[in-house]
Amino acid sequence: MTTYQAYFSKTDHKRILPPSWGHGPFPAKLEQNLALLDPNHMITMGSGTPNKDFFSVKNITVNHSIDLHYQKDAKDSHINSFYIGEKVKQSDVQKADSKIEELFEYADNTFGSYSTIDLVKKLTKKFEIFKDYKSNNFSEEDYDYCVTSGTSASSYYLCQLLLDDTKTILVEELTFTVIMGNVSMTGANVVPFNVNLNANDENGENPIDTKYLENLLKNWSTIHPKKPFPLVFYTIPVQNPTGLVQKIQHKREIYDILKKYKILVMEDDPYGYLTLTDDLKSNCDFNDKASFESQKQIYFSALKKTGSYLSIDTEGLVIRCESFSKIFGTGLRLGFIIGPKKIIDRVKNYIECSTREISGLSMTVFNQCCQGMDKLLCQNLKTNDIEQLDGWVQWCINLCVLHRHKQKVLYKELTENPVYASKRLFTCIKPTFGMFLFIGLNLNEFKSEALKSPQALTEAMQYMDYKLLENNLDAIIGTRLIVDINHSFKKSGFIRVTTSQIKNDKELAEAARRICTSIEQFFDEYLTKKQPYPVLL
Ligand SMILES: Cc1ncc(COP(=O)(O)O)c(C=O)c1O
Repeated sequence: MTTYQAYFSKTDHKRILPPSWGHGPFPAKLEQNLALLDPNHMITMGSGTPNKDFFSVKNITVNHSIDLHYQKDAKDSHINSFYIGEKVKQSDVQKADSKIEELFEYADNTFGSYSTIDLVKKLTKKFEIFKDYKSNNFSEEDYDYCVTSGTSASSYYLCQLLLDDTKTILVEELTFTVIMGNVSMTGANVVPFNVNLNANDENGENPIDTKYLENLLKNWSTIHPKKPFPLVFYTIPVQNPTGLVQKIQHKREIYDILKKYKILVMEDDPYGYLTLTDDLKSNCDFNDKASFESQKQIYFSALKKTGSYLSIDTEGLVIRCESFSKIFGTGLRLGFIIGPKKIIDRVKNYIECSTREISGLSMTVFNQCCQGMDKLLCQNLKTNDIEQLDGWVQWCINLCVLHRHKQKVLYKELTENPVYASKRLFTCIKPTFGMFLFIGLNLNEFKSEALKSPQALTEAMQYMDYKLLENNLDAIIGTRLIVDINHSFKKSGFIRVTTSQIKNDKELAEAARRICTSIEQFFDEYLTKKQPYPVLL
C-alpha cells in the first residue's frame, strides 16, 4: 500500500495538531484493565463540548421532495417529512421571515450574510464590547467584522495571514492547542509567555506574568537571538486550560506593554460571556420585568469587569475572535472576527478562496433563534416592552446559572474530599468564568522526583492519565496543553476538567470521587513498588 508521501506538499509534514484529547500509549497490562471497563459508565470531562442541556434548539423539522418546481406548482410536490430532536406540536410552528434561498443558495457575502453581520454588530453593541473606547488615532469605524465557522477557523485564517517562517508569535505557555496546529502550518516560531497560577479574585494579581513579558520583550535579542521579534500575541482572556480570568485592568497592563512594540493582540474569547458570579439568582422570576432588568444589570456588570481588549485598543492593534460554540452549539460552526478594517479585508481574501461563507442553514437558524428568544422573553414577562436581543441576554444568563451550578457542585465535592481537605494532594483554581476547572497536583511536596526534568514530569503525568482512565474518567493532563515542555514542565503537573458533558449532580459527585481516587492512587503508587506497570511515552 502506497504511503502517498510523494503526493504531499513538501511542507505538509510540518502541519501537526498536538492532540490534547488523546491518550496512551498504554502498557499491555493496562490495556487489558481498560478493556474490562464499561464504556457506558465512562465520565467525560475532557471535551469542552457542551451537552444537549445547553442547546436552545430542541427540534429541527425538514420537509423535502424529489420533485422540481420548474414550470410547476409547489402544491404538486410529494413531501417527505422528518424531525430531529424533541417532538413538537405542528400547530405551534410559525412561518419564519427568512427565505429558503438564504439557506441553500450562496450567501450575499462570502464573509457572512448581511443579516448575520448585522446581528453580530447588534450583539457587539448590546454587550458594549467597545464600551470604554477612546482614541484619537483609531476609531470604532476603523474596525470591520467577518463571520467564520468558529474560532478554530478564525485563528487558522489569521495565522495564515500574519505568520510565516520569518515571524514569531507569543502564546500563553498553557494553552488551547489548536493555535499550535495553526502556527505549525505556517512555519512560524512560537514562543511561550508565562502565566501566573497564583492569580485569583482575592489577590487581584494579573494571570499573565507581566514582569516576565516585559523582560522578554525588552531583552528579546539576548533571550532569543535567532528568532525574529514577535509581532503577534495570542491570548485566551478567560483562560483555557487554567480558568484564570484577565480583568480589564489586567488587559490594560498587558496592552500597555505590547503597545510600546506595536504587537498585535489576537484575543480568543469563547468563554467571555460565561460568568459564574454568585450575584445572579438561580431561580429568577421569569414573569417579572423588573427582576429580568435587575438580572441583566448584574450580568452586564459582571462582564464589564473583564471587558475586551477592543475597549482599550487606542492603536488599532486588537483582533477579537468570538465563537457561538460554547453559548449556542459547537456543531453550528458559527463565530466571528472583529479587527482593523485593513486586516479584515485580507482575512476576507482567505475566506473567499477557501471555505467561503459558513452554512446558510447555520446562519439562518441562529438569526431566527435570536428573534425567537425575544418572543419567548416577551411571553414570559407578559410585555412587549423589551429591548431587541434581551432574549439572547436571558439565554446567556440561563447558561451562566447552569454552568455555575455544575462548577460549584464539582468544586465542593472535590474540596470536601479528604484527598484535598486533609491529605492536600492537590489544589484547585476556583472558577469564576468559563467551563474549566484546573486541578494542580501537589508534586512539590509529595512527589518531587516528578519535577526533576521535563521527561520525569511527562512520565509522571502519563501515569496520572493511566489512573484517571482506570477509574473510567476521561480528562486532559497538563502535559498535553502546553507550548513547550522544557519551558513549562514545573507548571504542567495538572489535570483540566470540564463539567459540560456531565448530566446531573449525582454524576458530578461520582466524577469528583473518581478524580480524587485517581490522584490518591497516583501518589500512592507512582515510582514505588506498588506501581503495577511501566509508563510508556
Ligand atoms: C480558547 C479556545 N478557542 C477556540 C475554541 C474552539 O472554538 P470553535 O468551536 O469556535 O472553533 C476553543 C474550544 O474548545 C477554545 O477553548
